[in-house]
Amino acid sequence: MPELEGYFADLPSNDFNMLFRTLPPPQQGFTDADGNGVCDINPVAARSYFVAAVCGSHFKRLFPQKSLHFCHSSASLHWISQVPESVQQRRSPRVYVSSDCEEAVGAAYLHQFNTDFTAFLNTRAREMVDGGSLLISLVGRNAGTQLTEEQGILGNIAGHLEYAFEELVNEGIVEKEKYKSFYIPWFGPSSEEVESIVKREGLFEIGNMRVLEGIPMHPMTHWKQGKEKIFGRFVAN
Ligand SMILES: C[S@@+](CC[C@H](N)C(=O)[O-])C[C@H]1O[C@@H](n2cnc3c(N)ncnc32)[C@H](O)[C@@H]1O
Repeated sequence: MPELEGYFADLPSNDFNMLFRTLPPPQQGFTDADGNGVCDINPVAARSYFVAAVCGSHFKRLFPQKSLHFCHSSASLHWISQVPESVQQRRSPRVYVSSDCEEAVGAAYLHQFNTDFTAFLNTRAREMVDGGSLLISLVGRNAGTQLTEEQGILGNIAGHLEYAFEELVNEGIVEKEKYKSFYIPWFGPSSEEVESIVKREGLFEIGNMRVLEGIPMHPMTHWKQGKEKIFGRFVAN
């Protein structure tokens, strides 16, 4: 086996220390997060690769050119780089694009996603070796749904935030104006939107693309009778 090195990339605000401390224990000959050598570990449960961290926005260059063989963007490309400027100026009372918001807001979010995702593809294409593979997983919305429709888990979280903000405004803790100007910089694209950007840029061939629906991964997606307390705590956290 060749020796492998993996880089964890995220914004500088990420807690990289915690990340390194929660990695599987390293195999014999490697050192653990505290710099100690590790000898006596079941090889199946042990980590057999080297690790490093890289800080910065993935919309810009992070690695030397032609240095990556495999790249996995996990659950982060639905975060866009900023709330679109036209939306900031509009100042309508919305936490996010939801069912009763204007069409133009949805279009502005899609435009921002387009700009950011294009930058991501172009920077990764420069950093990856010819024949390398890019695996992207992100939170999207179902085919055929409107830009402004409630979008799965993003819509759920936005809904909880809206209720919470309204409560804080009613209690006089947060100013109404502040709430009105608050938008979250995330956008759940449809698979068609993702596909059309990848094809337009022509930097990667799509080998496989799947929409995974109804994954029971998050208590936030389902509210169960008798579990209100756990659900409330989870969402509040
Ligand atoms: C839901 S978490 C996923 C974390 C991790 N990748 C995983 O799969 O468990 C989303 C992550 O995206 C990161 N993120 C958001 N915008 C980013 C950007 N422009 N560049 C790099 N990371 C970003 C956030 O800091 C956050 O850690």
